[in-house]
Amino acid sequence: MNRRNALKMAGVAALAVTVGAEAEMAPAHMNRTEMQPKDPKNLDKGELKHTPLITVKEKDEKGYTLVQINVGQGGINHPSTPDHWIDFIELYANDKRVGKNILEAEISRGATAFSVKLDGVRVLKARAGCNLHGIWTSTYNL
Ligand SMILES: [Fe+2]
Repeated sequence: MNRRNALKMAGVAALAVTVGAEAEMAPAHMNRTEMQPKDPKNLDKGELKHTPLITVKEKDEKGYTLVQINVGQGGINHPSTPDHWIDFIELYANDKRVGKNILEAEISRGATAFSVKLDGVRVLKARAGCNLHGIWTSTYNL
């Protein structure tokens, strides 16, 4: 094998590793549909179960504000079972992603928190992915 063919083979191997990693991160059975509630002012039970609840807590002495996100509202938490769970939660500040957590089925529930600097931020957005029911978003105006 000459040098050129060896480089080609190395490139194919690197591509196979990359594709394999992507497949592991987002298996084909994950529902990645962007979901919208039918009536945002009157969520039904399934919508309450999937809509992230954003709670803004206190700012610390270094200027970071604790932002908690729970997937589920009105006393309903999204389940976490081996075949139905929240697999990620993201937080955006003025449309810039400032945090992302990957969650494991069954052992982690759809809840997380980030400490972020909110100076100049007007709106927070949380996105949460349910493996069966798609990606759900909510916003919080500061
Ligand atoms: Fe779900």
